[in-house]
Amino acid sequence: MELTVRPRRLRGNETIRKMVRETRMDKSSLVYPMFVVEGVNIKEEIPSMYGQYRYSVDRMEEKLLELAEAGVQNVMLFGIPAHKDEAGSGAYDTDGIVQRGFRKARQACPQLYLMGDVCMCEYTSHGHCGLLHGQDVDNDRTLELLAQTALSQVQAGADMVAPSDMMDGRVGAIRRLLDQNHYEHIPIMAYSVKFASSFYGPFRDAADSAPAFGDRKTYQMDFHNRREAVKEALLDAAEGADILMVKPAMAYGDLIREVKDATHLPLAAYSVSGEYAMVKTTAAAGFVDETSIMCEMAVSAYRAGADIYITYFAQELAKCMEEGRIG
Ligand code: PBG
Repeated sequence: MELTVRPRRLRGNETIRKMVRETRMDKSSLVYPMFVVEGVNIKEEIPSMYGQYRYSVDRMEEKLLELAEAGVQNVMLFGIPAHKDEAGSGAYDTDGIVQRGFRKARQACPQLYLMGDVCMCEYTSHGHCGLLHGQDVDNDRTLELLAQTALSQVQAGADMVAPSDMMDGRVGAIRRLLDQNHYEHIPIMAYSVKFASSFYGPFRDAADSAPAFGDRKTYQMDFHNRREAVKEALLDAAEGADILMVKPAMAYGDLIREVKDATHLPLAAYSVSGEYAMVKTTAAAGFVDETSIMCEMAVSAYRAGADIYITYFAQELAKCMEEGRIG
């Protein structure tokens, strides 16, 4: 057989396969999303996300230490307040749940890099991501509150803020307020390409943040759109975002690549709650091998162009990287 090119030559054994591997990743790029809840001595499992918990501030430390031990250095905090109101005032309360979570994490695990999800939907009684005007979110009045939320998180110890609300102009508004308060050095990771997605279902259970009426389609993106993804990414970059994000990850690999090629900023991909729940439930049913598909999904995000991977599987992935199973 006259075959000059034989791709199988480079697949002969594990050593050569690793030598020519095109996608390399490292634990330092993993981010773990964590839920902090009001109350004392609480570690409660989230029903739609087996293996994920809500922690009260006094119980955060055990999880943070476990993450640090596993080599996961980056944690993104989400707060779940006891009381919600029209204006989402818990989001920017200097003594709010997530702010106390930051203070605790800062003190308990100073080596961790702490990120804050900046949004109002966990804190509003109507579950929308900003102030309402009639049935819709009032973009410009919301900006000020988002900026206050970001500032309060930074004052409480956040190393980075990540606006996920999808209001127009939020990156610029947050940048200005942080700078006015001498936090010029704090980076902003913008959820730039965030779709109105049913993959967030389990998260909304976890954070009790489903909208009370309607949906998020007037602010989150329509998932039929591709050029708009680049438009959002470029806009956030122009407003001063330091890192961009595509969310969800699994069904959006094309857009991870598109944004990667269109900008020069580091890019994060958020593998969301629905992706996690799908893996957990199909594995529990015995239909797939959990660790294998978790790894495959993670590699696909990096291969598409992600530099940073936000995932509820961060600890398990760190282990797989450590063992050389992927990476
Ligand atoms: C807040 C926010 C959401 C997620 C991250 N930040 C929920 C939403 O937009 O409805 C989803 C994360 C996940 O599903 O894992 N706006």
